[in-house]
Amino acid sequence: MVEISTSILSVKKEEAIKTFYELEVANTNYFHIDVMDGKFVPKNTLEIMNEYANTIKHISNIPLDVHLMVKDIKENILNYIELRPNIITFHIEACNNKEEVMECIKLIKENNIKVGIAIKPATDILEIYNFLPYIHMILIMTVEPGLGGQKLIPETIKKVKDLKNYLEENKIEIDIEVDGGIKENNVTNLIEAGANIIVAGTAIVDSEDYKKTIKNLRGN
Ligand code: DX5
Ligand code: ZN
Repeated sequence: MVEISTSILSVKKEEAIKTFYELEVANTNYFHIDVMDGKFVPKNTLEIMNEYANTIKHISNIPLDVHLMVKDIKENILNYIELRPNIITFHIEACNNKEEVMECIKLIKENNIKVGIAIKPATDILEIYNFLPYIHMILIMTVEPGLGGQKLIPETIKKVKDLKNYLEENKIEIDIEVDGGIKENNVTNLIEAGANIIVAGTAIVDSEDYKKTIKNLRGN
């Protein structure tokens, strides 16, 4: 089953509550929270995402899918744990060594929250193979992290395929999430390659009819 995680990065403050409500009615499976610290990526969304995530928790039961694009991973994990997200994903590139990766996995897991690891377009998929048995999801970035509304990098589709093949060969059942530049006209390639959670921001938020766009992105 393909699920849709709507990135709320581009939602305007004045329209936030109305937009979150409409996204819930439109059957988004998750709210994707893009946490940026101004260090791992240039932009800083720490305050606004914290505010949005809190608002959503008050008005909706739709699960949160937290994507940490930050250098200080543990500090941000601790910040989000209290909001009880469904999943917290951190970037492998932000970790200094394997031990740090395992510590972050443990910290998230011991709080009964699912763990995801994200990789940037230039990072080799081999880098995460060692961690697959310990986590629930891989987030393959299909653009450079940092901004919404970019164009999907086509080479990343092969990465999804390679990961999917590896998971099947090794009988590992975890989710493959893809994020960045995903639209109705390129989503099928990613689903065929093996992605089962689709993040879309501007494709949904800038559309006229959220319900129709989400349905089309899901492919039904
Ligand atoms: C990019 C973020 C994405 C982004 C998606 O760094 O991780 O989640 O907001 O936005 P679109 O779908 O507009 O590329
Ligand atoms: Zn994201």
